[in-house]
Amino acid sequence: MKSIIITGGAGFIGSHVVRLFVNKYPDYRIINLDKLTYAGNLVNLKDIEDKPNYRFVRADICDFDTIYALMQEEHVTGIIHLAAESHVDRSIKDPFTFARTNVMGTLSLLQAAKLYWESLPEKYEGKRFYHISTDEVYGALELEHPEILFTEETKYNPHSPYSASKASSDHFVRAFHDTYGMPTIVTNCSNNYGPYQFPEKLIPLFINNIRHRKPLPVYGKGENIRDWLFVEDHARAIDIIYHKGVIAETYNIGGFNEWKNIDIIKTVIKTVDRLLGRPEGADMDLITFVTDRAGHDLRYAIDSRKLQRELGWEPSLQFEEGIERTVRWYLDNQEWLDNITSGDYEKYYEDMYKNR
Ligand code: NAD
Ligand code: DAU
Repeated sequence: MKSIIITGGAGFIGSHVVRLFVNKYPDYRIINLDKLTYAGNLVNLKDIEDKPNYRFVRADICDFDTIYALMQEEHVTGIIHLAAESHVDRSIKDPFTFARTNVMGTLSLLQAAKLYWESLPEKYEGKRFYHISTDEVYGALELEHPEILFTEETKYNPHSPYSASKASSDHFVRAFHDTYGMPTIVTNCSNNYGPYQFPEKLIPLFINNIRHRKPLPVYGKGENIRDWLFVEDHARAIDIIYHKGVIAETYNIGGFNEWKNIDIIKTVIKTVDRLLGRPEGADMDLITFVTDRAGHDLRYAIDSRKLQRELGWEPSLQFEEGIERTVRWYLDNQEWLDNITSGDYEKYYEDMYKNR
């Protein structure tokens, strides 16, 4: 039987991955290991929390002893590692937290998996350590060369403390393969959007602000470009790669869907206005240009043809449809947003945790 720890399963992408695995693989044991930082929210998983193949464990990935004991107790055969500090702006203010969680936390998971799996008679056979990373490790692309995309061969060149910490963790994962023969896989994905994203990130923050007619802080001139992928498509890619990906390989995951920030913001404004019954574009005056993010990467764009070619994955949603679904979800789930912005969700999981 497969017994898989998914780290960061109470966060944005992690909750979609946990839901997909719990529902799709009733014969797997899925253990969601999450510290429940400000970004972790068990409400995201209310629909699957009582499933018999699901267990939640509140733990810090830096806590080697707890992870090692959990691996022994659950006979863990795989790790899908998403837990991280994930917001670039926070990394600029507090880089140490990013080094601790993203670098030391990943190292402690790797070491626990190494010691546990090497203690078994079959050792690494049938095991998998899958590390979820970001396109930001590749640095920034130029606007003058739209034909150039990040490939799996692009040299690492991170600029923010967040991307530097993710790059470092990627190197540790590959080093554990090269040094100890651990069966690792790394994927680097572009910007995700969709339900359950913490409202400090561009799209949910702006949907919430438009709804309440609050200013929309656009960094710099809004000319930076990101490549957007619907979160359920990322979760589907993770499923395929976990099961069919080749050990020691890297796969880029992206939407072939580049947008200038200012254009995406205008699209979001029009969609929110329309769905709220306001004149479309009525809230354009909320756009407020503010001081740019320090070291703001100009353009990210992922070439995910290797994943398409070798494992048959491709994005399923057109962006217009994905944005419509996303805006609708946040408008229909205002309570979720309000709880997060008021901190009530912390009380929810404290109560729930007490009862376990
Ligand atoms: P998120 O911030 O929404 O969630 C992170 C989760 O990790 C939270 O549930 C949090 O409680 C948990 N966590 C944080 N520190 C922890 C620790 N020390 N121990 C245990 N759990 C801890 O992040 P996300 O946007 O869902 O991103 C998930 C992963 O995907 C990250 O590794 C990120 O680098 C990567 N990624 C994100 C995107 C994106 O667009 N969001 C794109 C590419 C890659
Ligand atoms: O590319 C993948 C990365 O995408 C992930 O690794 C990160 O975890 C994830 O947070 C995301 O990083 P970004 O910095 O691209 O996402 P964010 O939503 O913070 O910002 C998107 C763009 O919008 C970026 O160019 C900065 C800009 N922005 C953001 C915010 C929050 C604004 O102009 N105003 C804002 O208030």
